[in-house]
Amino acid sequence: MARQKTIYSCQQCGLQSPKWLGRCPDCQQWNTLVEEQPVAVTSHSRALPTPGKPQKLAAVTCREEDRLSCGMAELDRTLGGGVVPGSLILVGGDPGIGKSTLLLQAFARLAENGTALYVTAEESTRQVKMRADRLGIKTDNLYLLAETSLEQIRQRIKELQPAFLVIDSIQTIFTSSIDSAPGSVSQVRECTGQLMIQAKGDGLPTFLVGHVTKDGAIAGPRVLEHMVDTVLYFEGDPGHPYRILRAVKNRFGSTNEIGVFEMQEQGLREVSNPSELFLAERPKHSAGSAVVASLEGTRPILVELQALVSSSSFGTPQRTAIGIDHKRIALLIAILEKKVELSLAGQDIFINVAGGVRLDEPAVDLAAIAALASSHLNRVINPQLVLFGEIGLTGEVRAISQPELRVKEAARLGFTQCVLPKGNLKNLDVPDTIKLIGISHTSEALDVIFD
Ligand code: TYD
Ligand code: MG
Repeated sequence: MARQKTIYSCQQCGLQSPKWLGRCPDCQQWNTLVEEQPVAVTSHSRALPTPGKPQKLAAVTCREEDRLSCGMAELDRTLGGGVVPGSLILVGGDPGIGKSTLLLQAFARLAENGTALYVTAEESTRQVKMRADRLGIKTDNLYLLAETSLEQIRQRIKELQPAFLVIDSIQTIFTSSIDSAPGSVSQVRECTGQLMIQAKGDGLPTFLVGHVTKDGAIAGPRVLEHMVDTVLYFEGDPGHPYRILRAVKNRFGSTNEIGVFEMQEQGLREVSNPSELFLAERPKHSAGSAVVASLEGTRPILVELQALVSSSSFGTPQRTAIGIDHKRIALLIAILEKKVELSLAGQDIFINVAGGVRLDEPAVDLAAIAALASSHLNRVINPQLVLFGEIGLTGEVRAISQPELRVKEAARLGFTQCVLPKGNLKNLDVPDTIKLIGISHTSEALDVIFD
């Protein structure tokens, strides 16, 4: 008789191993391998409902207007311009960040276009109803279903024929075709696989909510990222009211696109002018504050960078960066030391991006250097001045992408001066209320800023 084989799969990354290991060789996490029964692969389980025929590329029709608006411009933009029929969208984020709130609000609007089904596998329908009352949702076409069995859910979908579907959350539903517990990697993968076939087959746009946990007790949605069309991360600091929805994978639009929301008593409010919001609490005449014109996806956003440089009372000075890569900051500090001869050794250095945003593009370099120098020299930067530019290892300032968009946004917000790479000055068509100062080296930039 054939021996029943067991496999061990990593609950973090989905790696499968024939024997137990203390540390996953793939994602390097400790104690994440769990014994599971192998999935019986039946040949029909993954087949699409209607067998496909080869088609000429030109004969395939697709229209932009097929996209449906969620009634929330911030969510629409992050999705690449609305919901595409048949797409599978994963919304990940820490527990309590507001995923259920976001989807409930979006679905209340989507329900105006067709029947919407909200499967709540974590909360009871009463809990969801209480939240909906608080959000002021009064739609007729939104159905709630408290169910965890995938087979039951699919049965109800067949009966109701919804036009939109949410599964909140993917980690709490299970299929009886697999033995392992809900939330294990094989359950999550199999359920997602079945929902994907349903989404593609019926053209049913499906949103999946996924929790991200550090300890690996629930399978993180990382295993799912390659299966779904779009991955959105909902992030934010629980202590801050601002939430940022970021597209990290999108088969129907650009990634790096972000949507900004504010969590209020009555739910999430869209922030359509994030620059104004991020700059609202800016101290106008203090040292260590600089404004950068950064680009998030297709939208320019002005953000304040704050630096604090103070002499250290301990042997090893502290270097802390929030909202910006700390290695990048270490590099910029080294450039300031070596190329501009600013002595920062023995100084504690803290740098923070105001408003809880994360800036990942090199265009932020120049503003980071300006904020550091401003705090160290105790000289105030002109509050009407905005900066952007990448800094190379020799201290040269390099051109970056889309300067025109950035300058225009700064001009719109009333900034009157812009320090930018000389290489970006060519063919800029910007309002003449803003004075452009092109520079080619970090020391030149500091001379201009602190003249
Ligand atoms: P929730 O959507 O339940 O988070 P998730 O589904 O990601 O776990 O949101 C929970 C948090 O949002 C909770 O801490 C309370 C807060 N909240 C508000 O501040 N205002 C509101 O109107 C709602 C519905 C929630
Ligand atoms: Mg929730």
